[in-house]
Amino acid sequence: MKNLEQIKGSRVYGRRQGKSLRKASGERFDKYFPELSINLNEEGSLAVDTLFDHNPEQVWLEIGFGKGEHLAAQAQNNPNVAIIGCEPFINGVSGLIDHIDRQQLNNIRVYMDDARLFMDALPNEFLSRAFILFPDPWPKKRHHKRRIVSAGNLKVLSRIMKDNAELRIATDHHDYCRWIIARLMENPEFTWVCDGPDQWHKRSDDWPATRYESKALKVGRKSTYMTFIRKARLK
Ligand SMILES: C[S@@+](CC[C@H](N)C(=O)[O-])C[C@H]1O[C@@H](n2cnc3c(N)ncnc32)[C@H](O)[C@@H]1O
Repeated sequence: MKNLEQIKGSRVYGRRQGKSLRKASGERFDKYFPELSINLNEEGSLAVDTLFDHNPEQVWLEIGFGKGEHLAAQAQNNPNVAIIGCEPFINGVSGLIDHIDRQQLNNIRVYMDDARLFMDALPNEFLSRAFILFPDPWPKKRHHKRRIVSAGNLKVLSRIMKDNAELRIATDHHDYCRWIIARLMENPEFTWVCDGPDQWHKRSDDWPATRYESKALKVGRKSTYMTFIRKARLK
């Protein structure tokens, strides 16, 4: 666990707030956010047994869910799974809340801050699936250290993921794609499930689209969809 000073010093790169929320979205935010939101305590730790009212079959995590369309679709399609989303951008969280209200979803919780803080607070072998979809590519070399797919963050993910859990990553950025594959190949705890280009150029049926992906397609940028498995631990 990181100490409090490190946690306070942690930085999220990118926006936390864009346009002010529209009146109806603001009202929905005020209504739903208190019961959806997860808070870490002063030391940056988490009472995991208080996360859900029931005992979910599986817990999944989406890092940087944007406006939440993928997370909401997964929650709707998998009612026995509990899904936690991390997103520091308030307009994104508000977008997710709009979906939750419209689709009447009750299996979602939100951490409205840096996913790295949240992952640090999770116990070992907790997650059955994790998603990092269209993470910010930070194309300039001097900004590569901001990339969320990094050796350090993968180490944390491999700790909190269960044996054979899936890590799904997508990007439309060629350089980041190569970087992602390289970082995952360097980590002996993950293996890439890959039968060839047909697989990595096409989303599977249980992989809903995201807003960012649709925007990329409109301007002719194709995406790569990668599934990695957290290898079983030697017991
Ligand atoms: C390019 S957007 C993609 C959003 C969404 N996944 C999609 O495909 O439409 C990247 C998202 O990651 C979020 N993000 C950036 N750094 C993050 C962090 N440290 N923890 C959680 N989310 C983060 C941003 O706020 C942004 O919403």
